[in-house]
Formats: sequence, structure tokens, C-alpha cells
Amino acid sequence: ASTLGTQAAQSGRYFGTAVSAGRLGDGTYTGILDREFTSVTPENEMKWDTTEPSRGSFNFGPADQIVNRATSHGQRMRGHTLVWHSQLPGWVGSIRDANTLRVVMNNHITTVMNRYKGRIHSWDVVNEAFADGTSGRLRSSVFRDVLGDGFLEQAFRTARTADPAAKLCYNDYSIEDWNAAKTQGVYRMVRDFKARGVPIDCVGLQAHFGAGGPPSTFQTTLSNFAALGVDVQITELDIAQASPTAYTNTVRACMNVTRCTGITVWGIRDSDSWRSGENPLLFDRNGTKKSAYNAVLTTLGGT
Ligand code: G3I
Repeated sequence: ASTLGTQAAQSGRYFGTAVSAGRLGDGTYTGILDREFTSVTPENEMKWDTTEPSRGSFNFGPADQIVNRATSHGQRMRGHTLVWHSQLPGWVGSIRDANTLRVVMNNHITTVMNRYKGRIHSWDVVNEAFADGTSGRLRSSVFRDVLGDGFLEQAFRTARTADPAAKLCYNDYSIEDWNAAKTQGVYRMVRDFKARGVPIDCVGLQAHFGAGGPPSTFQTTLSNFAALGVDVQITELDIAQASPTAYTNTVRACMNVTRCTGITVWGIRDSDSWRSGENPLLFDRNGTKKSAYNAVLTTLGGT
């Protein structure tokens, strides 16, 4: 019988899920995880508030649990995430001196990437740096406000040095619609990085969709980013009410773009989801496959 992971592998893609360390003792959860998924993203365990709660004091326990388990089960890992304004400990948010913040940011990137060097296929180096709405510019954050827009370039250069084998991604939400100002802002940044030789290998499109699924321009967005010379990945997929058609349209867009190298859903069962009230995932709370599961499997080329 085929699974999401084996079907995606037929076209050289991975099919992943977000995993929570606290659920690894649940046999129904790990049963589905090991049967269906070939890539794992820690849902919270690699975020700054967990990995470096106070300056220079690193805590890798929860992330190690996930990485060690995935590695021993032959699953690949996405790293999520190194530089993000959210789930950021207060001590970072209160730094006002640029030299201090630069040293702190570079040390965080280097130390976390070193820990997992060689075991992460793709890293979300910077997450959600662009503003919502029509500005097409970076949002206010301690990183932008203290270091300026150049913090992104600094972060990617530091990341390349720390683990040259990992694909370095910029990851964001609401950049799926080609006509959105936010998408255009990210596109200009990637184009500028490629033109100036700043290291970037991939764009992660989170794909947290409403009940209608992806915007009609979604595939165009994927191909336009890919045409800049980066891979694209669907990194946090979930869809309110999980209509099979909406899932099919999402997966088909990826299948139609050669450089769309993998898809990650943001959790396993509806009860595991950050939006559990919307039942947005592929398995119900008993761990039973939903009709969206079959739609995804078919679209990946399965039966
Ligand atoms: O672990 C603590 C627990 O000790 C504490 O008692 C409890 C009280 O609030 O909080 C627990 O932490 C929660 C954590 O999830 C683990 O369950 C946080 O409050 C809660 O805010 C956190 O939510 C996560 C959210 O990111 C934070 O921004 C979600 O699980 C996670 O799915 C979500 O994932 C993000 C991606 O990283 C980036 N893109 C958007 C996506 C959805 O928001």
C-alpha cells in the first residue's frame, strides 16, 4: 500500500509533517508519523525561546529528541527557525545596541546550526520578516529596528558558513498569491540576493489556507520564485475544513513546478493542529485518514 512519503518520492519529493516532542509517547501519533512521512519539522522545539532562553545558555533537549528519533527512523529534517520576531526570549527583544545584537544573532545561528550540522536538509534561516498589508517591506522587529534591513543578508551569510550543506530558506505566510504586495516584497529580496551573490537556496511558502484553499495564482508564484534560481517548498500546509479539492489544488501546483521539492503539513491529526477547531489536517482525531488524505495521495501520483 502506498503512503504520502513513498508517493512523493516517486517524483523525488519529500512529504513531511510538523512534530511536537510532547507527542512522541503517543503510539497512534508515531505510528502515522513513521508510516506516512519522510521529513520532519519541529513545531516549536528549535525556536529561540527554547534553544537559547538566556544569553549563551543553550537547551537542545527537546530538539534533540525529535532529530534523533527522525534520524533513526530514516526521516529527513527541516530546521525551523533561526531568526524570528516571535517566540523570541525577552533578553533578545530588549537589546538596543547593534553590535551586541549582531554578535548575539550570529552566535545563535552558528551554535544551533552546528549542533545539527549535516542532519538538516533545509533551514528556515529567517521566518516571517515581511509586513502584512500593502507596504511590501520588512515588519518592525528588534532585528530590523536595531540592525536595519541588512539583518537578513547577515543572517544568510552566517548560516552558509555554519552549515554549507544545508539549503537556506526564507519562510513566510501570505506569500502564496502572486498579486499580494507581501509576495512582491519577498520576490524582490530573493532577486536582489541572487543578483548580489547573497546565499539563499529556497523559499518556504507556509500555505496556511482558508477553506477555499490556495489562491488561483499559487502555481504562478511557485514558478516565478523558482525562475529566480531557488527551490520552493510548501512548509506548513493546513486548510480550514480540509476540502479534498483545496488540498488537490495545492499539491498539484507543487507537482507542476519542477523546483517545488517537497510539502510539509503542519501536524498529523486535527487534534494536533494549532487550528484544531478548523479540522485542517489529513487525519481525524482518531488518526483515521480523511478524504483530503486520499485526494493528496492521488495527486501525488498514487491511487
Ligand atoms: O509549552 C508551553 C507551556 O509550557 C505553557 O504552559 C503554555 C501556556 O501558554 O504554552 C506552551 O507553549 C505553547 C507552544 O505553542 C507549545 O504548545 C505556546 O503558548 C504557543 O504560543 C505555541 O504556539 C505555536 C505557535 O507557532 C507560536 O507562535 C504553535 O504550536 C505552532 O504551531 C505555531 O507555528 C507557527 C510556525 O512556527 C510559524 N508559522 C506560523 C505557525 C502557526 O502559528
